[in-house]
Amino acid sequence: MKLVTTIAVLRQELGRCRKKGRRIGFVPTMGFLHEGHLSLVRQAHKDNDVVVVSIFVNPIQFGPKEDFKMYPRDLKRDTGLLRGCADFVFVPPARELYPDDFCTFVEVRGLSGEYCGRTRPGHFTGVATVVAKLLNSVAPDTAYFGQKDAQQAAVIRKMVGDLNIPVNIKVMPTVREPDGLAMSSRNTYLSPKERQEAVVLFQALKSAEHAVGTGLCDTQKIRGMLEDFIAHTPSARIDYIELVDRKTFERVKTIDRDALLLLAVYIGKTRLIDNTLLRAGRRQ
Ligand code: PAF
Repeated sequence: MKLVTTIAVLRQELGRCRKKGRRIGFVPTMGFLHEGHLSLVRQAHKDNDVVVVSIFVNPIQFGPKEDFKMYPRDLKRDTGLLRGCADFVFVPPARELYPDDFCTFVEVRGLSGEYCGRTRPGHFTGVATVVAKLLNSVAPDTAYFGQKDAQQAAVIRKMVGDLNIPVNIKVMPTVREPDGLAMSSRNTYLSPKERQEAVVLFQALKSAEHAVGTGLCDTQKIRGMLEDFIAHTPSARIDYIELVDRKTFERVKTIDRDALLLLAVYIGKTRLIDNTLLRAGRRQ
């Protein structure tokens, strides 16, 4: 496994691989890796000949009052976890991606301003910009993202389509803790009590799946039911509950087609997100 810090060296190394006809899989991350990331890396390893993982805490996707400074970082631990399943770890210093005169941003209009984008203005422009730069630098055959960040995956798919970036985007299932909590680097912010209560997101998703399975289709009623459910957890405060078309991400009024239930809930001061697919017309 090689640690690379510049785009020039990365391109040189990957150019050689490409000349030999090797397929390149790419997993962009912000580090502090957990099983969720590692499942993407393993899939990339299965599908490709060469695996590149980037570790970069992208400053421009954090708002001024967000957790950029305190975001967990541990490069030594991360590289240890990647040994054996990644070929290149790309760890650029901020200057490499954002020199002083940097002034070009990628904005995926519409979707970027909704849901998480409402609470985190500018977040998805930061994500789309860095992912575009990383895809440009790595030029992978396939790039891997997690379903937990469903809106991010949709923004990236749209960007890749609109900008004709020649890459296949693969979105892999959410990896969960034994109690159902979706794995996230931000789970480390939770106190032991909050960690216990954070399972409410998963339980809420399950209760919605059950309700839809028994015939509840009205999304306003589903939202009301979930608000009552989450209200029983003292440390929880709802940011949003949205039911959207799984492809277009437009809000739906009734589950007459498969829909995504998107949740963002603060547990104490930590904002967590999760989602599930609600299948239309499937009575339990
Ligand atoms: O999902 C993440 O970790 C980040 O948003 C990403 C895709 C690596 C871009 O910084």
